[in-house]
Amino acid sequence: MTGAHMGWMLADEAATIAFAQALAATAPAPAVVHLVGDLGAGKSTLARGWLRALGVTGTVRSPTYTLVERYPVAGGEALHLDLYRIGDVGELEFLGLDDVSATLWLIEWPERGAQALPRADLRIVLEQAGHGRRVTLEPVSATGRDWSSRVASRWELGPAS
Ligand SMILES: Nc1ncnc2c1ncn2[C@@H]1O[C@H](COP(=O)(O)OP(=O)(O)O)[C@@H](O)[C@H]1O
Ligand SMILES: [Mg+2]
Repeated sequence: MTGAHMGWMLADEAATIAFAQALAATAPAPAVVHLVGDLGAGKSTLARGWLRALGVTGTVRSPTYTLVERYPVAGGEALHLDLYRIGDVGELEFLGLDDVSATLWLIEWPERGAQALPRADLRIVLEQAGHGRRVTLEPVSATGRDWSSRVASRWELGPAS
């Protein structure tokens, strides 16, 4: 769909965190987000900034081995998944997430969880670009499309908004 994807340069880690704040401030609830990109692309940085923006003050652990970390947030629960080390999708069933009605799902390496995951609203693609990163928003639901527009408006207004 022409024009559906929007992208920006994030010059440094602070820009990634600021972008996470824009995402958090505009997110629908519930929201399912797939974080896509190579190792080192900035997925965990974005997730950590997002959780901080939601008021998580304690340690934000990388769910590399646990596969999931859960955080109480206003209005419910936020889940941060990292499926990089998952053996097979059956492992997801043991996490007991079927009955969870989280307000936010942040999923790194979603391609390894396949159909065992809730359907995404938004794919966020991060890529190395010089010393910084390029971020692209790929909405995959009607909710995700509206959300992307809100993110674009907010982000293009600048940091004061
Ligand atoms: N926009 C950016 N520009 C430059 N470096 C960044 C940017 N965003 C994050 N980083 C850095 O990239 C490194 C890897 O980030 P990380 O979030 O762990 O990646 P991933 O979870 O995708 O493997 C970290 O050192 C982080 O500070
Ligand atoms: Mg990571």
